[in-house]
Amino acid sequence: MANITTRPITKLGIVGAGSVGTSLAYAAIIRDTAREIAIYDIDAVKAEAEGLDLAHGTQFTGANTVTGGGDIEALAGSDVVVITAGARQQPGQSRLDLAGTNVRILETLIPRLMEQAPDAVYILVTNPADVLAVAAQKIGGLPRNRIFSSGTVLDTSRLRLLLAREAHVLMTSVHATIIGEHGDTEFPVWSNASIGPVPIREWEVSGRQVFTDEFLTAATNDVVNAAYQVIEGKGATNYAIGLAGVRIVEAVLNAENAVLPVSAMLDGEYGISGVALSLPSVVGHNGVYKMLEMPLDEEEAGKLAASAETLRSTLASLGI
Ligand code: 2OP
Repeated sequence: MANITTRPITKLGIVGAGSVGTSLAYAAIIRDTAREIAIYDIDAVKAEAEGLDLAHGTQFTGANTVTGGGDIEALAGSDVVVITAGARQQPGQSRLDLAGTNVRILETLIPRLMEQAPDAVYILVTNPADVLAVAAQKIGGLPRNRIFSSGTVLDTSRLRLLLAREAHVLMTSVHATIIGEHGDTEFPVWSNASIGPVPIREWEVSGRQVFTDEFLTAATNDVVNAAYQVIEGKGATNYAIGLAGVRIVEAVLNAENAVLPVSAMLDGEYGISGVALSLPSVVGHNGVYKMLEMPLDEEEAGKLAASAETLRSTLASLGI
């Protein structure tokens, strides 16, 4: 009998068996994102139990192998490692309030991860994602393409949800992006937003403009405050970030070269360097190939500069 061939083994490593790490793993098995999924957490008992619970359901998914435990060596050979571990926002805290604690976690974690998966693409989901992307890059000495954060992929999905509902079109027919910090200074690029090919401000229903300035301002506030609203109600956000994270993992594992608003270290884009923030970026096999520049109006350029300044001063306060 000829050898049975299977598709190449792809391995996703997840650091953190909390609600975000496990939601990400759950999304990955349901979407058949990777052949192998290994979850690592310093709480070995919890990680093992989460791994078992997920593995018990794989008959109904894509026959993935899922493991969980407290041994970091289980992440060896991962193609992509997603980091979700760290302190999480309490009601009333901003993402930036977590910076000091979570940078310290990365200082011990990153060198150990890199021993196990020296060739992996690393995606930071832990907050503050933009700050941690810079810290992790400096700790690990990796090029910017191989270590970046999920940035505003989730926030952009939140925005498209609001716009699609109002326009009565499919979410994927909404072209609008949140850029900047994954946090309080993020903003949508309205000057470049459209429903299908129609500029957002020109979208009409029965001759009535749908996306008025008032609507756009309210939508911006809703997106910026979305995580606070969810955290107030249930203590954390997990499902949507799990799906958003998996979307980015797929762009890497499937070498998609998809344009996604992830956050990587800027290198002169819009005249900004030394901070990571989200811009639409081409994401494929080696991570972030290119961060794209689109025309911004004066107000948007000012907001991007302000976002960069906020992140720069947080980094400076941490000595990064
Ligand atoms: C979110 O936006 C809290 O960053 C997390 O859901």
